[in-house]
Amino acid sequence: MSEILQDHIQNFLEEFNEDESPKNFAYRAYAEDHHIPIIDEEVKEFLSFFLNTLKPKRILELGTAMGYSSIWMSRLKSVERVDTIEVREDMYALAKENLERAQVENVHQYLGDAKVLLDQLEGPYDFIFIDAAKGQYPYYFEKAQRLLAKGGVIGFDNVLFRGMISNQDLVKRRKITIVKRLRKLLQALKEDHRFEKTLIPLGDGFLLVRSKDV
Ligand SMILES: C[S@@+](CC[C@H](N)C(=O)[O-])C[C@H]1O[C@@H](n2cnc3c(N)ncnc32)[C@H](O)[C@@H]1O
Repeated sequence: MSEILQDHIQNFLEEFNEDESPKNFAYRAYAEDHHIPIIDEEVKEFLSFFLNTLKPKRILELGTAMGYSSIWMSRLKSVERVDTIEVREDMYALAKENLERAQVENVHQYLGDAKVLLDQLEGPYDFIFIDAAKGQYPYYFEKAQRLLAKGGVIGFDNVLFRGMISNQDLVKRRKITIVKRLRKLLQALKEDHRFEKTLIPLGDGFLLVRSKDV
């Protein structure tokens, strides 16, 4: 269920969107059973439309988890290569298994902290999907710019963070640092007129950013 949409809107979107394939459904069920957070279905639908318009060749993903989004993105028509970073060894191994099972060959996995690996990778990437540690988003944004192709786009998942960004009453004490950092990033972007940005209230909030200098 979406963290920020009303249930009746969420249900309507689920009905409206294309039926899930049995394979997709099985991945999603596995993720739910094992408490692995993966991209919300309605965000995926939106992003699929957007990426089929942007037509990226090279994608960088921060946060592989079980490989669900990297498998899906690697199959988009324009995509030649997806590089994906994961810090947890168990997730890296699970994604490897899933990628092999799905017979996907154009996804390259990196094991390590995205914060460190961002300095080591070679761009340019046409799309950078930021979905790792939420408290590190400002840092990821700063580092990702070096790797972005001209006209490229950065997408951040979960930026409304279960409503906590816009409603102080919802903020959980142990999430205060993440909330502060996400708010700071959003405020900085709001004031930075070098970037075009749009915040889409789907799933847990999805933010798209690109340089105006194209
Ligand atoms: C929301 S999940 C990614 C979901 C995936 N993108 C999908 O939709 O299928 C976030 C993942 O980021 C990983 N992660 C957290 N901190 C990280 C870091 N500093 N560097 C790399 N990965 C990290 C977590 O272990 C987790 O597997």
